[in-house]
Amino acid sequence: MNEVIRFTLNGKPVELAAGAGRSLLWVLRGDLDLTGTKYGCGEGLCGACTVLVDGVAERACLLDIADVANRKVTTIEGLANGDELHPLQQAFVDHDALQCGYCTPGMIMSAAGLLAAKPAASEAEIIAGLDGNLCRCGAHKRILQAVRAVAASSKP
Ligand code: FES
Ligand code: FES
Repeated sequence: MNEVIRFTLNGKPVELAAGAGRSLLWVLRGDLDLTGTKYGCGEGLCGACTVLVDGVAERACLLDIADVANRKVTTIEGLANGDELHPLQQAFVDHDALQCGYCTPGMIMSAAGLLAAKPAASEAEIIAGLDGNLCRCGAHKRILQAVRAVAASSKP
């Protein structure tokens, strides 16, 4: 029998009956139609599926849907403030920090988790924070520029 899971998704309460053992990633993409969270490896190795859980960057492919019960999940679809892009989203646009865009949601969500904890993160902290996010297009240099720009705007 499916268990009823309740959690907050992008600021709104969600209640759904999900089979035990299903990952957050496939519930987001398959049941809730939030396809911004990408499937890359399914094994926690690429970062494409990164979301925020209670403000911390987590791999949605590694989380059972039951793990997020009564917690707050934010996906790339919930990051903007209405029509106003999140500063990281705007910085990715400004720095042309993508090519195919497949890694982009995960990159932005990892960076969002990092900068939520350390708004003025150093270069080394940014590199370490995004180390687990892969980009097959080789856009890393521009991605780092974008995240660096947002971190720099928080420095006193
Ligand atoms: S799909 Fe989750 S880390 Fe690769
Ligand atoms: S922009 Fe294509 S994988 Fe990163």
